[in-house]
Amino acid sequence: MLRIALWLVIAVACRSTTSAPDPLALDDAYPAEASPTGVVKTFEITAAEAELPLIDGTRRKVWAYNGQVPGPTLRVRLGDTVRVQFTNRLPQATTIHWHGVRVPNRMDGVPHSSQPPIEPGGTFVYEFAPKDAGTFWFHPHIRSSEQVERGLYGMLIVEDKVPPPYTQDVVWILDDWLLGADGQIVGQFNTPHDLSHDGRWGNVIAVNARTDTALQLATDERIRLRLLNASNGRIYAPDFGDLDATVIAVDGMYLRAPIPLERFELAPGNRLDLDIVSTGNASRRVVVVDRFTNRPNRLAEIAVDGGSNPPRFASPARARVPAWSTGLAAPITQEVRLDARRGGALGIEWTFNGQAFSGHEHHHPSLVLTRDTWARLRFTNVSARLHPIHLHGMFFKVIARNEIAVDEPFFRDTVLVHGRETVDIGLVPLDVGSWMMHCHILEHAEAGMMTMIDVVAPAAR
Ligand code: C2O
Ligand code: CU
Repeated sequence: MLRIALWLVIAVACRSTTSAPDPLALDDAYPAEASPTGVVKTFEITAAEAELPLIDGTRRKVWAYNGQVPGPTLRVRLGDTVRVQFTNRLPQATTIHWHGVRVPNRMDGVPHSSQPPIEPGGTFVYEFAPKDAGTFWFHPHIRSSEQVERGLYGMLIVEDKVPPPYTQDVVWILDDWLLGADGQIVGQFNTPHDLSHDGRWGNVIAVNARTDTALQLATDERIRLRLLNASNGRIYAPDFGDLDATVIAVDGMYLRAPIPLERFELAPGNRLDLDIVSTGNASRRVVVVDRFTNRPNRLAEIAVDGGSNPPRFASPARARVPAWSTGLAAPITQEVRLDARRGGALGIEWTFNGQAFSGHEHHHPSLVLTRDTWARLRFTNVSARLHPIHLHGMFFKVIARNEIAVDEPFFRDTVLVHGRETVDIGLVPLDVGSWMMHCHILEHAEAGMMTMIDVVAPAAR
């Protein structure tokens, strides 16, 4: 008896000191800041209308960053400062959001919240130092169901201080296009059908805006392939056939350890970094196929040399990713119900807890979280539709689906919630500010499925 009591005293004493590990801490999973290199990388980006030979090479009217679709790939090193001198030559106001990048709140590109809209003819300078190395992207955050669909998106790659020696570093941006009989982008956006289903799904799937994208994979190669889903609504489950494809990063962040690519649902906004080597003895063409629905879709092709003699180096996927396995015993900080109703300017409103977003001018945060403090959110999808939920300014981990614990060996910034599904996430916000949370099916976001999360300093609560 005495022994037990003594043990209890010791246990309590240990808890009150800082030596006991907190099972729900971030546990140095990723740093609050990157150490600066002192280098400033300056880019000029102009958004404007353009006519480009896209998809099968036919000229199409698009909206483009620097006259290209996809827009330019911006490459920097971890610790560099990114400076983007942006000019808007579109017929509409716009902003740029740096998806997945932990930027200062005023660089987040959210109109009326982090900055005023950039009117036609206007300019804005974005400047920030990315805190994580990985695969990120940028896109407009005004009327995004139209602006992204017309071709406005590009990749931002933050390289490691010492990049792993892959023989090629390749970007594949997946996007589907809804083309009319005239071969042009169908100009009706936010249609009742798109709004009441899973957003706008196109009739042509392209990789890097081409239907003939191909990659050469030689015997002595090891390729880093960075996939991004830039579609408004379509989800992909990429299948690399008999190739040896290993997942090393999700949403920009390295995994705890590499895992073989099995079914991964790449929802709008998601990124997937793969480590690919040649396998087998026969040289052949591997068709990469999307298997999200029952009808497979061709994405691209990889020409493989027979044999395999890739460079040997340790996988960069060895991040600290906490399990947070005690998270399901912790109380739910907030439940967020995903639902729809008739009404609003578009005829249907998508809601978080019964609230449709009505503009930043009058929107109150629906959630207040405390910096450096673990929180658990539960998304309860009352609807039958798909909702890839994206948080700005922070990463999170999925800890349960339909109340069954899961330990994904990676963080995310976007998670697909299926119809009637319940998804629990854990997170530790590091940056004070007003951050957006929204569905990344851009039609759902336009129809109200957006809100704000305010992250406040611990004392301010
Ligand atoms: Cu890529 Cu607010 O989104
Ligand atoms: Cu949605």
